[in-house]
Amino acid sequence: MFKRANGNVTPERSVLFVCLGNICRSPTAEGVFRAAAEHAGIGQQIRVDSAGLSDGHVGYPADRRAIQAAWRRGYDLTAMRGRQVEVADFSRFGWIIAMDDSNMRALTKMKPADFGGHLGLLLDFAPELGIRDIPDPYYGNFEGFERVLDLIEISVAGLLARVQAALAHE
Ligand code: 4NP
Repeated sequence: MFKRANGNVTPERSVLFVCLGNICRSPTAEGVFRAAAEHAGIGQQIRVDSAGLSDGHVGYPADRRAIQAAWRRGYDLTAMRGRQVEVADFSRFGWIIAMDDSNMRALTKMKPADFGGHLGLLLDFAPELGIRDIPDPYYGNFEGFERVLDLIEISVAGLLARVQAALAHE
């Protein structure tokens, strides 16, 4: 399994993106957020990861269309491997970010009562868009992957600002 960096940081500095398969949307969000964090100079201080609700793609690379669309914009998703979200993630990650309402419902059911972090939708960080779900691109065409990247790039900026603000108050 791919070993991610920064494994020992606190939950407050740990962000987990979750979708259904962990091969299209959440690996894209992970790659875009990591790049944004590095650009902001806090890449070494935070942990970023992604996971899927289904176990259908555990151990597999991201979808090649997601890899290609991301690569064209300067994000490298090639090292990522699918994994399934687990209850222990609620102890390790203070930010658990769902791609759509269906993911949100499943995560809300999994969430331990004592979870003290933030569980929410990625698009809540881009309220100006007026949409809640990052559409699942898996059964669509390449344009769908471009749309996913557009939405993720906008909302990740809002999320990063919130994470940075929280860190400033630590
Ligand atoms: P993701 O996309 O949730 O963005 O990774 C999907 C990938 C695979 C499937 C559904 C969605 N699938 O049904 O296999």
